[in-house]
Amino acid sequence: MNAPAHPDLSHLWMPFTANRQFKAQPRMLASAKGMYYTSLDGRQILDGTAGLWCVNAGHCREEIVQAIARQAAEMDYAPGFQFGHPAAFEAATAVAGFMPQGMDRVFFTNSGSESADTALKIALAYHRARGEGQRTRLIGRERGYHGVGFGGLSVGGISANRKAFSGALLPAVDHLPHTHNLEHNAFSQGQPEWGAHLADELERLVALHDASSIAAVIVEPMAGSTGVLVPPKGYLQRLREITERHGILLIFDEVITAWGRVGAATAAEAFGVTPDIITLAKGVSNAAVPAGAVAVRREIYDSVVDGVQGGIEFFHGYTYSAHPLAAVAIQATLDIYRRDRLFERAQALAPAFGQAAHSLRQARHVIDIRNIGLVAGIELAPRAGAPGARAGQVFQRCFEQGLMVRYTGDTIAVSPPLIIDEAQIGQIFETIGQVLKEID
Ligand SMILES: Cc1ncc(COP(=O)(O)O)c(C=O)c1O
Repeated sequence: MNAPAHPDLSHLWMPFTANRQFKAQPRMLASAKGMYYTSLDGRQILDGTAGLWCVNAGHCREEIVQAIARQAAEMDYAPGFQFGHPAAFEAATAVAGFMPQGMDRVFFTNSGSESADTALKIALAYHRARGEGQRTRLIGRERGYHGVGFGGLSVGGISANRKAFSGALLPAVDHLPHTHNLEHNAFSQGQPEWGAHLADELERLVALHDASSIAAVIVEPMAGSTGVLVPPKGYLQRLREITERHGILLIFDEVITAWGRVGAATAAEAFGVTPDIITLAKGVSNAAVPAGAVAVRREIYDSVVDGVQGGIEFFHGYTYSAHPLAAVAIQATLDIYRRDRLFERAQALAPAFGQAAHSLRQARHVIDIRNIGLVAGIELAPRAGAPGARAGQVFQRCFEQGLMVRYTGDTIAVSPPLIIDEAQIGQIFETIGQVLKEID
């Protein structure tokens, strides 16, 4: 096949990408439909990662495309400050309808990073409105990912992301330990048995800093970006119990885990633990338009909004909060999730998916496999002196063989659209298994 005509690649500074390496050997995508991308050189690529954990209903869904097209022609943009438009309110109602009971007030953003920073600011505003403005400390977790804004980065715990900026992060922040432990939990299926006690570290931080200084704890219920860390049984329940006891808000960053990924609308629902604030993005609009949201308990909204006599209550927002195109994409997306029962589908497929993932247990290089819902992490032994190189090679070879996966460090992550079928699940893990045989 002739080499495809690439555009000039030199001007674009690509995010989270080895730019020089990519431009020497580009992986270019041209179109997408359903479970597949088509590469620029005309190959079908099975989407094993729902794009970036976000295209949960599959690509280019007609209803979403039509909704966006109609809205773009009708009203392209409306300011969200001091003006409203019906789709913004309808989208908020639609999102609220999927949240745990009582978490029915919704603030719109454009991304997961903005949702994380917005959630942290809501926590500070809430305490301040209730006369506890001294509660400013934020607690994150090692290996956590909450996007790339300074707030999310500060509470995040992925060292490579923090390194260049470590001198300029928020000061009043501390971190819980992560829950990854191969000695106790290797090859756990679903939630590991060991590790609930790690939540008790929060008591140590409370003792150290005093509860009266702590505003919020933020965790991903399942840590995705760091390489799929499934919460140990009882861990989230303990975090909830400790935060509640000390008047600390609990924020679940559900940018990845919401919208069916773990078999329910939210991980909060799937794991039976209700936080105070939930951050959303990615699957909320099926990624067809950039969109994010923060859902809060009604009491949080009421405290902030009633805490101010006249005027703006919360000095925060984005030019594109509840952008009309995002607002209609969100509604069309959530309609599909409900109509096609995609969260139930994810739950029904989860056992077969988990079994297929764990079929790689004996494969070369594999030191752990983790899974929950339609997510799996396959951890490989790192090459001596070259962490990430082995998983990077798997990623590249899979792409060459028509499969998109992700990798972080030496963990391969799989998180397909929820419309996947069993044959495609088989194809994903067979391809990975084949590649593992071929590489050193
Ligand atoms: C849990 C979590 N929070 C925040 C983000 C950041 O989202 P975005 O890239 O849309 O800013 C991500 C992205 O993967 C995420 O997984």
